[in-house]
Amino acid sequence: MRVLGIETSCDETSVAIVEEGERVLSNIVASQVDLHARYGGIVPEVASRHHVERFIPVMREALASAKTTLDDVGLIAVTNRPGLLGALLVGVSAAKALAMALRRPIVAVHHLEGHLYSAFLADNTLYERLPLVALIVSGGHTQLVWMEGYGRYALLGATRDDAAGEAFDKGARLLGLPYPGGPNLSKLAEGGDPSRISFPRGMISEGLDFSFSGLKTALRTFLEKDQGATSLADIAASYEAAIVDVLVAKLRRALQATGAKTACVVGGVAANRLLQRRMRAMAVEEGLHLVMPEPTLCTDNAAMIAAAGYWRYRTCGADALSFDTLATAPLATFQLA
Ligand code: KG4
Ligand code: ZN
Repeated sequence: MRVLGIETSCDETSVAIVEEGERVLSNIVASQVDLHARYGGIVPEVASRHHVERFIPVMREALASAKTTLDDVGLIAVTNRPGLLGALLVGVSAAKALAMALRRPIVAVHHLEGHLYSAFLADNTLYERLPLVALIVSGGHTQLVWMEGYGRYALLGATRDDAAGEAFDKGARLLGLPYPGGPNLSKLAEGGDPSRISFPRGMISEGLDFSFSGLKTALRTFLEKDQGATSLADIAASYEAAIVDVLVAKLRRALQATGAKTACVVGGVAANRLLQRRMRAMAVEEGLHLVMPEPTLCTDNAAMIAAAGYWRYRTCGADALSFDTLATAPLATFQLA
């Protein structure tokens, strides 16, 4: 079955064609980074308008590069929650129109479930390696999730304030770097000394929750006192190291607490090179099977939505065309005994 996936929850317009939930035939992403950069962040109204303009060209490109016609599509999968409401509605309206016109089933996908499935696209053997512990690190979320199968998730820990991506973005802004902050801060950090400044590692030795707001405040205080004396590269490297140290320590603790031997790190921040290196080293030390998808599957894309949608359809069947679109919605979880 070929699934047409649609993702418009934030500032990427994306359409993908994925076969049997595992083969990515195309995954077209039109980023709006340049449009929002001049405002220093995402402007929701601008994002929605741009999704409207880009949707049809992006869908045509996704079909053409997958050598697929709309007739070959067996299922429509679309992100319906959580995200910017106006942005989500563009993708959802398009998906419902396609499902109605083509008379195909449709499934509504939770964005974080999509991020989880990016790991399954990167490594098809994951299905046989469940249960796993996933670290989801995006611009809006930082969560540790225990996963047993499709729809079987337990929340192990989450951020109490800022998400990891938000910590990168806010830190970048304090350093005067352009939007998007995460990749720009990381690039600047490459030439810096990560041990130059000892920034706080929030809650590093307590439980499985995260806290990044103290780090951001520490950076602001440091910059006010420092008055330009320390190189920006050293500051960026020290700041990045503080975030990465916490993420690695928490995933390690979650694996030790649950006894899981399989892990994945997904979401936009998983594209971070230092995080990838440090996670790989941790996986070797702990004897784990670790999956970190390539950067194009980490940041928002429709292939991950198509993959999650395929499994939703196989497990729960199609959704009614009347499904809702929601700006906020937690991932449905059960309590781990
Ligand atoms: O998953 P994603 O594309 O969108 C959301 O669902 O939020 O994640 C975007 C986040 C942003 O905060 C961005 O700064 C961060 O991922 N990010 C990075 C890198 N690439 C993207 N953070 C650190 N290093 C990177 N290379
Ligand atoms: Zn995302």
